[in-house]
Order: sequence, then C-alpha cells, then structure tokens
Amino acid sequence: MDTIECIKTRRSRRKFLDKKVTDEILEKILDSARYAPFGGPPIKDCQVWDFVVIKDKETIKELVLGYEDRDFLLKVPVVIACCADKTKDQDYKEWTITTSLAIENILLAANSLGLGACFLTTFTKHEEHSEDREKMIKILGLPDNIELIGMIALGYTDPSEILENKELRDLEEMTHYDRW
Ligand SMILES: Cc1cc2nc3c(=O)[nH]c(=O)nc-3n(C[C@H](O)[C@H](O)[C@H](O)COP(=O)(O)O)c2cc1C
Repeated sequence: MDTIECIKTRRSRRKFLDKKVTDEILEKILDSARYAPFGGPPIKDCQVWDFVVIKDKETIKELVLGYEDRDFLLKVPVVIACCADKTKDQDYKEWTITTSLAIENILLAANSLGLGACFLTTFTKHEEHSEDREKMIKILGLPDNIELIGMIALGYTDPSEILENKELRDLEEMTHYDRW
C-alpha cells in the first residue's frame, strides 16, 4: 500500500473477527516500531519504547476494568501495552513523544498489513482515573522505571463495523506560516 494511502485509510477499529494474529505478522508490526525517530544519537540506549504483548484472554478481560466502551477488547486477539523506559533519554525526558511516534508506526503497519487497530488511553493525564491507571500498571507488572503510555487493540477487522464519518480540519485553518 502506498504510504499516503495507508495514512489516510487508517481508522480506529473496534470490531474484530475471531481470527488469530500469527507471531510472524505480530513481529512485522512490532518491527515497524523500531524505525521511529527518537531523541538523541542513533544508538540503542535512546530507544525508550518497550511493548507488552498481551494475548491471554483473562489479562485482556482484566484490562477492561469495567469500562463499557472497552468491552470490545474482549473480542480482540492482541493488546499491546506501549511503555517507555524512563531511565533512557534522561537528558530530554521526551519518552512520551518518542513512544507515541513508535505507536503511530504500529497503527500504520497494522493497516498496511490488512489488520485493524485502536489506540486506547491509559489515563496518563486523567486525574479522576488515576486508580484505574494504577490497576493497569499492576496487572501488567510494570516496574517503577517503566511508564505506561497507552494501549493498542489489534486484530483482523470485522467488515460489518460501521465507522463514523470523520471530520478533518481544513489545512488553511490549522496551518500557520512563518508565525502564528
Ligand atoms: C490520546 C488518544 C486517546 C484515545 N483513547 C481512546 C480510548 O480510550 N478508547 C477508544 O476507543 N479510542 C481511543 N482513541 C481513539 C480515538 O477515539 C480516535 O483516534 C479518534 O476518534 C479519531 O478516529 P480515527 O482513529 O478513526 O481516525 C484515542 C486516541 C488518542 C490519540
């Protein structure tokens, strides 16, 4: 698939087929994360991202945490918890941005390989959900130096899913030239 087409056709998908995602496909998708940009020189130590791949149904069920709008996870074959190692990139502390760039690579790789995905917040900035965030961290067994950035639901999409029309901002309205 052409890159621009891949970017433009990516949508958050929340209805999945009962079809296994093979390790080979999963590896291809995760491999794409490694090519994201990161702060600092092009060395391994600056690559802050870490991923927890969850296929265990019980663990996925736990991660729903009773949120009705996350029930769709019960039919998702794979959830990827996207994390950052805060001990890396100590100078810039840009681990959220860096991991987010890797996350977009994953979302696009999934689309280009014919799978669907949905990014889910792990409430990094939602004070009122901080207890649930702590629960997720505990379920995943994340050590203190590892920050949970978000989750990705991944699988083969059910073609019967009806997607909401997407409004796009006008280029002219969102773009500022030379200064604001
Ligand atoms: C920061 C962020 C948090 C999100 N959290 C959730 C979420 O918790 N649950 C969910 O179903 N979708 C979540 N999404 C997906 C958005 O709802 C979706 O990307 C947005 O509506 C645009 O639609 P599209 O992805 O189909 O282009 C999140 C996306 C982002 C970037």
